[in-house]
Amino acid sequence: MIVLVGFMGAGKTTVGRALAARLGRAFVDSDHVIEQGLGLSIADIFEGYGEAGFREIEARVIREQLAGPEAVLALGGGAITTDSVREALDGHDVVLLDIALEDALSRVGGDPGRPMLHRPDLAQVFAARADLYRSVATLRVPVAGRSINELVELVAAGLEDASAVPLDPETPDAGE
Ligand code: S3P
Repeated sequence: MIVLVGFMGAGKTTVGRALAARLGRAFVDSDHVIEQGLGLSIADIFEGYGEAGFREIEARVIREQLAGPEAVLALGGGAITTDSVREALDGHDVVLLDIALEDALSRVGGDPGRPMLHRPDLAQVFAARADLYRSVATLRVPVAGRSINELVELVAAGLEDASAVPLDPETPDAGE
């Protein structure tokens, strides 16, 4: 499975759909599967079940998808906070679309459909996830300054050979 991870607004769904088309694979978005399965929006699921309830449903859906037919699978931004999801990702191609918090906020900040964006401790949520994203990623692609098409081509090339992806020196976390 090719799996896309990264913070809200990184472009997992958009890039994932285009990548799937480019590779001739099906595209699956875990949030979409969850919403279809329950007949509820993500915001309604958070309201009804809380974040913990959402994470349980999310982890089950992702494990099922990972065990299913080959596809490009985009995960919700917080899925990697669940231990069983990180474990289930082992052995798959996991692409981190890396975005800075301020860029993510300028893209999706305030979206009422993304309850986690409204947390007062959003900066801590972002910081706590950085290492988790890196721990599961087999390929990291900074998104800043790159078009959807460029990202698709970079990811496709990087899946063949990770050294084909230049890590943008402008990204705040580069140079470590
Ligand atoms: C979440 C990200 C969302 C969605 C839910 C929780 C998060 O997905 O799963 O609102 O905790 O970061 P996107 O990353 O596709 O916005």
